[in-house]
Amino acid sequence: MIPVKSVGEIGVMREACAIAANVLELLCRAVEVGVNTYDLDQEGKRLIASYGAKSACFQYRAGSRVFPSHTCLSVNDVIVHGIGSLNTVLKQGDIITVDVCVEYKGFIGDNARTIAVGEIPDTTRQLLEATQEALFLGISEARAGNRVGFISNAVESFIRPKGYGIVRDFVGHGVGRSMHEEPQIPNFGPRKSGAKLRAGMTLAIEPMIALGRHQVEILPDGWTARMKDRSLSAHFEHTVLVTNGEPEILTVPTV
Ligand code: MF3
Ligand code: CO
Repeated sequence: MIPVKSVGEIGVMREACAIAANVLELLCRAVEVGVNTYDLDQEGKRLIASYGAKSACFQYRAGSRVFPSHTCLSVNDVIVHGIGSLNTVLKQGDIITVDVCVEYKGFIGDNARTIAVGEIPDTTRQLLEATQEALFLGISEARAGNRVGFISNAVESFIRPKGYGIVRDFVGHGVGRSMHEEPQIPNFGPRKSGAKLRAGMTLAIEPMIALGRHQVEILPDGWTARMKDRSLSAHFEHTVLVTNGEPEILTVPTV
């Protein structure tokens, strides 16, 4: 069952998502050559608290594993779930995905973006632009009456001809009172697949795309997901409200 949010619930989702978007925006402004991801995560923690929200990642449990970081900071070939570390110091030419997922008044807002640290080569810039464009193409299919597969297929058919790897082990998801609700939203698959969307559903759409092959591996910390072939990878995510008209992106910063 995919939760359909009431008008009141959507109001709180808007607040949670605006906070997630503002924290993401402000945290991205703190990215520069020489900073380490532990300090960035501490800044994320501080920003989240400044809005009266909580990190939905910190102490998130998956089986016996507990996520130790307040944000996910994933550098270069790390595709998702990077943990802030004093040893990960950003250098000129890196790319970093900042993923901010907050809880506010019982609802979750989730968004992410990959940005450059200083100058990056055109091939890397194109990967970032294509992944962001794939996100917007996916979002444009988040309409009442469409199936989840419309979103998945929009991402896949845009990315596949470029020869990039489309990550399969992680997918987008419904989001609301929990970080991960139904439906799962793969970034690949046939158009005519998955559940039908209805107004009031809130979805985290998040293409994860690599310059190389799609396979990922999990590091011994149990979380960090890195591309197996060590290729650079990008990830853009918004929380979106399905309406009877245009899809509405909820994670829009106001700062
Ligand atoms: N934005 C991520 C997601 O959609 C946040 C999860 S981090 C976790 O899965 F550690 F909490 F899992
Ligand atoms: Co997500």
